[in-house]
Amino acid sequence: MKIGIDRISFYTSHYFVDLKTLAEARKVDADKYYVGIGQEKMGIPAPDEDVVTLGASAAYPLMKEGELEEVELLLFATETGIDQSKAAGVYVHGLLELGPRCRTVELKQACYSGTAAIQMALGFVARNPAKKALVITSDVARYELGSPGEATQGCGSVAMLISADPRILAIDPEAGYYTEDVMDFWRPNYRSEALVDGKYSTMVYIHALIESWKQYAEESGRELTDFDRFCYHIPFTKMAEKAHQKLCRKCRVKTSREDMQHLLEESLRYSRITGNCYSGSMYVGLTSLLETGEEDLTGKRIGLYSYGSGCVGEFYSGVVQPGYRDVLFGDQHAKMLAERTELTYQQYEDIFHYGVPTDGGDYIFPQYKTGPFRFSGISQHKREYESLV
Ligand code: CAA
Repeated sequence: MKIGIDRISFYTSHYFVDLKTLAEARKVDADKYYVGIGQEKMGIPAPDEDVVTLGASAAYPLMKEGELEEVELLLFATETGIDQSKAAGVYVHGLLELGPRCRTVELKQACYSGTAAIQMALGFVARNPAKKALVITSDVARYELGSPGEATQGCGSVAMLISADPRILAIDPEAGYYTEDVMDFWRPNYRSEALVDGKYSTMVYIHALIESWKQYAEESGRELTDFDRFCYHIPFTKMAEKAHQKLCRKCRVKTSREDMQHLLEESLRYSRITGNCYSGSMYVGLTSLLETGEEDLTGKRIGLYSYGSGCVGEFYSGVVQPGYRDVLFGDQHAKMLAERTELTYQQYEDIFHYGVPTDGGDYIFPQYKTGPFRFSGISQHKREYESLV
């Protein structure tokens, strides 16, 4: 039985900062961002958006099409937790009006947890082929102002329906994974910005890739040349390119600039203008590949590398299914990205300093009211959300 991704939908904030604007404020050459790290824009969530509203908004198109009726498992992957106890997914369950007969839980392991959620969902469907699982990855990448990580901020969410006989990507049973206790990137509970040892993190990312690949290759018997495209975790697009070059070198596969372009470029298009979406980054890459690529990918095998600092890496793969183009949301995503509003540097800083909301604060932000769902405040220490649809 084939199991995998049946639908995929992504969402990012209505607001962005062009990295030229940031470069000017930080007095660096804009090409350091545009060329050096390969990023052009970063998505910035408005004060009335958080991982719940982003996640529910990503899944909303599926809800509208009646695709969520058989969902009995909701896995919500995030490293931007809004509560130490209650799963953000339970709020999303309410906003999406899912049935009460549903398991809901939040998963965390930095940017990796979306992949853990997918693997768990595959197991659930294998035991219950008539049932479906909804995996939502949702994050806000936030670093200190003026820090090296600042230009790699972003936000976004990806909602994926996991089912038997999937219409988009049948996931192969083989996988290679790797865990090592390292401190390359982390966010203590008392901070709203991540801490990162930037250069070290890029080295650990690649080390975990090589180790994950080794296990995957042993289990599957496949070689790098058996893949038609690759999707990497994308903290910034240059990272994915460097990782693939390193993997090719390790496997002694010659890869020209044109090969790199062919294997990766389509998967990097959305991330270049949304920024890092942490747990969703690789899945934003997959969405970008499927929706923006000109070639019909039916029957093609995609290699997927997921990485979460701390760290856990996983390499797995899937085969694109016939008719996949008929069930994508490419036009909606293109419209969403084209209609975003650019922030000035001052507007960006104002939103940044708004920080983490606390009980009873001022939550009236009519100027930012966008998207199908909004965070409307905290009363008696309870988060409140409003559906605008
Ligand atoms: N024109 C063209 N290129 C330029 C340039 C210019 N004017 N100026 C600089 N560059 C190039 C540099 O040569 C460099 O390229 P190489 O890496 O190929 O040498 C690149 O731009 C970046 O410049 P720096 O190395 O000087 O940049 P930095 O040290 O200020 O910041 C970073 C880079 C450390 C990765 C930083 O962005 C960071 O800390 N990011 C957050 C951490 C991160 O994303 N890590 C990735 C792995 S961990 C992970 O994947 C999990 C996750 O999601 C966070």
